[in-house]
Amino acid sequence: MPTTLPGPIDPPARLLMGPGPIGAYPSVLRAMSAPLVGQYDPFMTGAMSETQELYRAVWATGNEATVLVDGTSRAGIEAAIISLVRPGDRVLVPVFGRFGHLLAEIAERAMAEVHTIETEWGQVFPASVIEEAIVRVKPTLLALVQGDTSTTMLQPLEEIGEVCARHGVLFYSDATASLGGNAFEADAWGLDAATAGLQKCLGGPSGSAPLTLSPRAVEVVQSRKKVEAGIREPGDPSAADFVRSNYFDLGMILDYWGPRRLNHHTEATSMLYAARECARVLLLEGRDAVIERHRVAGAAMLAGVQGMGLATFGDLAHKMSNVVAVEIPGGVPGDAARQAMLEDFGIEIGTSFGPLHGRVWRIGTMGYNARKDAVLTTLVALEAVLRRFGAAVPVGGGVEAAADVFAVSSAPAGDGSEEA
Ligand SMILES: Cc1ncc(COP(=O)(O)O)c(C=O)c1O
Repeated sequence: MPTTLPGPIDPPARLLMGPGPIGAYPSVLRAMSAPLVGQYDPFMTGAMSETQELYRAVWATGNEATVLVDGTSRAGIEAAIISLVRPGDRVLVPVFGRFGHLLAEIAERAMAEVHTIETEWGQVFPASVIEEAIVRVKPTLLALVQGDTSTTMLQPLEEIGEVCARHGVLFYSDATASLGGNAFEADAWGLDAATAGLQKCLGGPSGSAPLTLSPRAVEVVQSRKKVEAGIREPGDPSAADFVRSNYFDLGMILDYWGPRRLNHHTEATSMLYAARECARVLLLEGRDAVIERHRVAGAAMLAGVQGMGLATFGDLAHKMSNVVAVEIPGGVPGDAARQAMLEDFGIEIGTSFGPLHGRVWRIGTMGYNARKDAVLTTLVALEAVLRRFGAAVPVGGGVEAAADVFAVSSAPAGDGSEEA
């Protein structure tokens, strides 16, 4: 027992304008405080089915196998990879930032034979380069990040599914940072598996990973399912190459979400409510409208930092709408300036990883925070902090440039959701 008990949780007011997590939609926070019900209460199973239907629309898929994996985004990644990849299978991972390395690492732990191709941070891969590697490596699975938050780049996926189909390769994408704020068309783009998280453009807290699997991927995971003793029934498969994780065995997870309602884990009820609400507010506003709101907010933030005379990192033609990497001006201490943003203005912006650490800040405009007031407030604060640290920035240049972008946009200035 501690000598003094801490008070009830009471976080400070913050505007989260980093690469995620970002502040959740108010209605998502309200949904999370809704009362709990039992695991097999008809309300609960009904909410699960509704959530599946909502996420089919978010992913733009008809996939029956559209569920949530309980855990942060990497739980979804791990479930997809460990369930799809048999030990010794070849997995190809094109790496264009930190999260490509993560996919390779997870595939390695799944005992795959991992092959990577790399491009410079700040760039993406042409489809032809990925196809050449597929021809050379002959992988079972291509694992490709859509939006790598570490570099802010958005890998075009439109042509990749067709390439994979032509070479008999399963196509998985990690859309954690991009889903909801950038186009994603699971069926039209030929995805076999895709996973995400709530804490970026979907406007929720981290802790639930939306996942969708094509029928072809479902066949693979079902053939490798191992139902644990105690709930196993006659007819359940017992493949020698069963999935080496119980929690992430997608065959069992699908049986929990499907008509069988197999008693696998206990669904994280409050996270289910949150995920359901994230998808509901997105669809209420409209998928295209939300993507457009992210485009406008991102373009305004980009114009704003450029209007302050700051340089950006990476190929802007392939930047995700929802985050920009800004070169820290010479002479400005990056971490101290971020701290001043937080302490003096209550605004969080992000640092970066690996080769970009100390070189760029990452500023996000996503989910609930892809809003005019959030963008302009962040720019005002950044200008003040930069000036305090001795950088020569034009007075009001950032805000003016950003306001000009909003002025010519027809997207709503707010978060777009009347009910949020
Ligand atoms: C592209 C990408 N993949 C995976 C992750 C890991 O997500 P999580 O921290 O929710 O497990 C992140 C987190 O920033 C990400 O941006």
